[in-house]
Amino acid sequence: MTASPSPSLAQSLHFWARNAANESALLRTSLRLGLFDALPVQGSSTPCSVEALATATGTSARGLRALLELLVCLGYVSQDDSRRFALTQGAAAFLRDSAFLQRLEAEQEWGGPVALLDEAVKHGEPVQHAGRRWDVLGHLRALFLEASAPASSTEAEDFFDRFARSGARTQVLITSGRLGLLELLASAPRTLPELGAATYLSTGGLRVVVEVLEKLGLATREGEAFGLSAEARRLLDGKALAYMVRSLSVSAQYTEALERLDETVREERFILDLKDPEVSRRFYADNSNQITAVFASHFQLSRKAATTLSKAHPLEGAAVLDIGTGSGVWGAAFARATPTTHVTYFDQAVVLEQVRANLERLQVADRARFWPGDLFTHDFGEAAFDVIILPQVLNVLRPESLPGLFARVARALKPDGVLLIAEYVLNERRDGPLDHLYFGLRRFMTNEGDLLSASEYARLLEVVGLSSSVCIPLPTQEMIFAARPGVNLPTRLAD
Ligand SMILES: C[S@@+](CC[C@H](N)C(=O)[O-])C[C@H]1O[C@@H](n2cnc3c(N)ncnc32)[C@H](O)[C@@H]1O
Repeated sequence: MTASPSPSLAQSLHFWARNAANESALLRTSLRLGLFDALPVQGSSTPCSVEALATATGTSARGLRALLELLVCLGYVSQDDSRRFALTQGAAAFLRDSAFLQRLEAEQEWGGPVALLDEAVKHGEPVQHAGRRWDVLGHLRALFLEASAPASSTEAEDFFDRFARSGARTQVLITSGRLGLLELLASAPRTLPELGAATYLSTGGLRVVVEVLEKLGLATREGEAFGLSAEARRLLDGKALAYMVRSLSVSAQYTEALERLDETVREERFILDLKDPEVSRRFYADNSNQITAVFASHFQLSRKAATTLSKAHPLEGAAVLDIGTGSGVWGAAFARATPTTHVTYFDQAVVLEQVRANLERLQVADRARFWPGDLFTHDFGEAAFDVIILPQVLNVLRPESLPGLFARVARALKPDGVLLIAEYVLNERRDGPLDHLYFGLRRFMTNEGDLLSASEYARLLEVVGLSSSVCIPLPTQEMIFAARPGVNLPTRLAD
């Protein structure tokens, strides 16, 4: 738990929009499940395996592992070379302190009510939750705007901040985006009555939300009027605000599942179950909209990947298959790599409907084939493709489905074909990077896959005859190229 430099507003905003609610859910769930009690303290007793801890807490080992790997990354838990875990002495100092635990327990019950912030802001009154009324606005005021008695150490206070305020920050952003407040603040400074008149929201509710936004550095006050701060205006310029509001709506889809994460880790009961075809269709149709919004930045990555592969493996006339294409951004980059590449875009039918427009914009629709199907069972054929891409799709599959998919993919590759996996690949100790681990927690939570390390992928690929593989980092994710022995693979990212 070393002190890190203060993050910039850009980094904070990214974290609040994407991972902060996961952070609170991780710590709240670990407390609820008794994990901190079950962990031995480092140096005083023998560390425990995931399985032993799962037995002690009556939880699923897979779910518990997702929590533990994050707790290691955050520095609250240590992991030895045999993958046995213990609570660090620093964390034990406050997590064994009964006064601090009482403060956490009192905070624990606010998760559900805070998720009803929209309603509180609309009416300016306490909300009804689980048979009681909860003063959510008062609670946010106490958390963010009023002085509270600090914990016994900076580390304890930092833990409390992550436990209590991280998720609330995400919720304030979600509510501000959903109720149109961020757009209003961006358009011109307004007083609270003006904001109230424009939104029909309560002045009391608006006051708390804009003052919290001010505290977060997103809003400023000039006299009686509130507007976006200069730095927030710079960050949320042009399309960036609309993109952030849309990404917040994706984050909002996880709210209930995060609040009930303990049920999922205990019983593998999935609150947002993306293995349910109807839920998956709705979720990914929205998600591919969102991916379409960031097409340009993803396209930079996929183009880099296509250039990298083309240096080792000419792509002229190549037949390419993009499995789980989403917006089509990966296949399109390969279509643009040469005028003769043909790309097959495979996904659920509802998702493919949105791909054509992107391909037309890039003028590659004439070399496109759309192939709707279910990736869990689809037969991709035999020796049919020079390149198969699995971009951000393996994390959709539960671990037991990977061998079957890899077998179907290996069969569909020509003898000198190349498989390209673009994924969040974990480090070999599986305790980082942090962003990847949060993404992995969400995949567990939605009954989807596990993230793996490069050597874990290599072992699975070897079984289906793809025995040579390399892992090359891109700016936000990693690429694994795999092929049969003797096929030339890139060794580094193209300039
Ligand atoms: C995380 S998105 C990745 C999208 C895209 N490849 C990218 O990198 O932006 C996963 C994709 O897998 C697709 N998918 C999920 N389950 C599927 C299934 N059973 N059959 C076909 N496609 C599926 C989703 O529709 C979604 O487009």
